[in-house]
Amino acid sequence: MSEEQVCQRCQGTGWLLDDARGAQVARRCGCFDERRMRTLVEQANIPRRYRACRLDNFEVHNDSHKDALKISRQFVKNYPAQDVGLVFIGPCGVGKTHLAVAVIQELIEKKRAFCLFYDFRELIREIQSTFTPESTLSESDVLAPVFQSDVLVLDELGAKRTTAWVEETVFYIINHRYNHKKMTLFTTNYPDTDAPEDTRDSFYKKGSESLVDRIGVRLRSRIYEMCKVVEMEGDDYRKMAKQASYRF
Ligand SMILES: Nc1ncnc2c1ncn2[C@@H]1O[C@H](COP(=O)(O)OP(=O)(O)OP(=O)(O)O)[C@@H](O)[C@H]1O
Ligand SMILES: [Mg+2]
Ligand SMILES: [Zn+2]
Repeated sequence: MSEEQVCQRCQGTGWLLDDARGAQVARRCGCFDERRMRTLVEQANIPRRYRACRLDNFEVHNDSHKDALKISRQFVKNYPAQDVGLVFIGPCGVGKTHLAVAVIQELIEKKRAFCLFYDFRELIREIQSTFTPESTLSESDVLAPVFQSDVLVLDELGAKRTTAWVEETVFYIINHRYNHKKMTLFTTNYPDTDAPEDTRDSFYKKGSESLVDRIGVRLRSRIYEMCKVVEMEGDDYRKMAKQASYRF
């Protein structure tokens, strides 16, 4: 049903009247919930490329995929009873963003949760842009949904190296959310290890940085406190799909 079309069942009022033993009883028309769900989907800010991502179309190619999918399903099932969010860690193209988006789409569809997706760099950029004199938005305009959303996806954590200001701002955001029992899902392709460089394995190439190098000890430790770690491994799905000449 498009925005312009008025619901034929309730003439756009959102209510239906039933006859119950001579008296009229009002109940919600189905279009009310359809509208609510459409609004939640629009507000979620999910990139077009990821709109089709669901838990059911996530393919399992190895044990880490299997575990990550299980944890994601559990998260949706338990919501909102759990205390911690998730942090998906793994190399490029293993499906971290796919799963994080799939979780919030299912939370919208099944639990009508207010969810929000943000690329980490995009969020920082949007906050910073409010500091310019020509900005029509204030910092709190940008931050309000970030604070208020029931579930926030912060994609590509560490993709921008933090400065003291960024660290403080992100700390403030996630702390506020944690204190208000609001869940946050992170994705990152910076491995979490303090191991010496020469013992770092597979996706940790020699000389590359760790999550701590990118976001600092304080932020890293807070995120670990507020999230369950979901480690993912495997080949880059984008490359595999290209080789198999799939179309995206
Ligand atoms: N196991 C999978 N099953 C189905 N589709 C997948 C799977 N893994 C990845 N994809 C698809 O491949 C593309 C890349 O995956 P995605 O963006 O989730 O990777 P990522 O781990 O977030 O990578 P990056 O670190 O580069 O952000 C997406 O279109 C996603 O839907
Ligand atoms: Mg990603
Ligand atoms: Zn209606």
